[in-house]
Amino acid sequence: MKPRLFSNLRVYNHIGGLYDAALGFWSRKVRRAAAGALDLREGDRLLIVGVGSGMELEHLPTRTRGVGVDLSDGMLRRARRRRRKLRMEGLDLRVMDAQRLDFPDGSFEAVYLPLILTVAESGARVLGEAARVAAPEGRIVVADRFWSEEKARPAAVRAAGWLLGHFAMRFDLRFSEIRTGAPSLELRRHEKVGPGFFFDLVTLRKPGSGKPG
Ligand SMILES: C[S@@+](CC[C@H](N)C(=O)[O-])C[C@H]1O[C@@H](n2cnc3c(N)ncnc32)[C@H](O)[C@@H]1O
Repeated sequence: MKPRLFSNLRVYNHIGGLYDAALGFWSRKVRRAAAGALDLREGDRLLIVGVGSGMELEHLPTRTRGVGVDLSDGMLRRARRRRRKLRMEGLDLRVMDAQRLDFPDGSFEAVYLPLILTVAESGARVLGEAARVAAPEGRIVVADRFWSEEKARPAAVRAAGWLLGHFAMRFDLRFSEIRTGAPSLELRRHEKVGPGFFFDLVTLRKPGSGKPG
């Protein structure tokens, strides 16, 4: 795994309030669309990977059961406050590395990856873990921002993306690169969602055979 100059964890531990203010309104539409794409049914267990301050909780049903994980204690503190306010007692929130999920294979009918694949050190590895812990025929929903597959990526863009990745997110990654971490997942839909078609919403499905991603 490539070494990091700084851990962006340090950043997230301290910017929870600022993060919510900056991204809250801007990301409402994609969060709402992602919640719909998860297609949660009675009895489903949901895993939210990189749950952060929990802004996605507001768009999920109150009866949601499952686990939200994040590396940052500071972000999880905010998520716990939100969970209490929303009375989502069925959702457990834990500190965990998305690159090494501490769950057995096939544990969740739905896995949600909101703005984590371009933030973690290896998005491919995070997607691989998501595929592993998803149940056969499970839904995996990604809300993020990827570099277009068609658009050129000059060296300066790559360098700026790499640098920003240490503080915030990689804006220069293509989804096809991240998908190498879980090639057996079936791509169901990839669409751009507003405002200004800024976000990518990707819906994947784990094959029914139970093959790990
Ligand atoms: C851009 S924020 C997204 C938070 C939230 N999902 C949202 O949509 O607002 C990225 C989150 O990923 C977390 N994170 C980064 N690397 C991680 C890792 N390896 N494992 C778990 N969480 C990680 C950060 O702590 C941060 O809370």
